[in-house]
Amino acid sequence: MDTLALDAAAAEQLISAAVAAPSIHNTQPWHFRLDPDTSTLQVRALRERSLPVTDPDRRAMHISVGAAILNLRVAARRMGWAPLVRLLPDSAEPDLLAAIELDEVSRAQLASTTELYGAIWRRHTVRTPFTGPPIPAAVLDQLAETALAEEALLRFPAGEERSRLLRLTAEAERRNTTDPDRGAESRSWIQGPDAPAYGIPRGALGPQDSAGRMPMRDFSAIHPAEPLPPAPFEAEPCIAVLATRGDAPADWLRAGIALEHVLLVATLHQVRASLLHQAMEWPELRRVARDPQSGPGYVQVLIRLGYGPEGAPTPRLAASDVLDPEDRGLGRP
Ligand SMILES: Cc1cc2nc3c(=O)[nH]c(=O)nc-3n(C[C@H](O)[C@H](O)[C@H](O)COP(=O)(O)O)c2cc1C
Repeated sequence: MDTLALDAAAAEQLISAAVAAPSIHNTQPWHFRLDPDTSTLQVRALRERSLPVTDPDRRAMHISVGAAILNLRVAARRMGWAPLVRLLPDSAEPDLLAAIELDEVSRAQLASTTELYGAIWRRHTVRTPFTGPPIPAAVLDQLAETALAEEALLRFPAGEERSRLLRLTAEAERRNTTDPDRGAESRSWIQGPDAPAYGIPRGALGPQDSAGRMPMRDFSAIHPAEPLPPAPFEAEPCIAVLATRGDAPADWLRAGIALEHVLLVATLHQVRASLLHQAMEWPELRRVARDPQSGPGYVQVLIRLGYGPEGAPTPRLAASDVLDPEDRGLGRP
């Protein structure tokens, strides 16, 4: 591709990839602005889709937006650009989380980029029990290397350390389901059939573990009228801990970039994932989630990995709904 125009069609393609990223409670807390003069796509946080009770410092929101930034990067490379991502480019504008310059044409069309781009559409959160053999060590190593390349750390605790993290998550889950304000906030993001294209549809929810080992987020406790029957989850779960060296907004964005990169690479290996974020939502539990043996590092999220069905897509707002109307040129119907 020799000439690349950052026009409405290109923007739509880029932003469709961005919005396919995971976000906490599928809040999709992002907004985009296109500046064709500087060939820059600006990524902004959308405060009205934050979670003031669950995520008052907006850490999970930054992780979610970071995941969208990774997808933008992958889509831009696949379209032939060499994207330059600047995180938090303007200290006077804290909601401007990234600016992505797209004026450099990439001569290196890497096959791996096309593969990753394909994985954007096949990655879904899978909340059902996993089956199958353990994930090969070579795949886990590749996931850890992927995180490291994005300035994050991914480790796979076993034995007592894994049990300790699952106990912390279970304690957070107990608090989440008994705290009325948290319950009300979560409830407002669980959607019925005629709901807007954000929030989690009931069909995407999963069962609880009948053995009580795996503390899946208990959305059915939020909707006691419609409990799903419990099911046995994997007895030896593969849990990954994603951590960053720092704990500032730029680190949270990096955590989101790393998270999505790891999830896409996992998808290439048919490895499915769901997230266990509950303990991160209680500051003292998040603090003790830090592994005393592994030195400095701030835990950002736990990832449950395994083999299972691909899962189904969860609805997303259209690209035209999240692109600034002034620069859109996409036109609303
Ligand atoms: C920071 C963050 C935290 C999340 N925490 C959880 C969680 O604790 N439990 C869960 O089931 N899903 C969790 N999710 C997954 C979202 O619910 C999911 O990404 C969203 O509903 C969109 O669905 P999809 O991932 O299938 O596209 C989290 C996602 C992000 C980005």
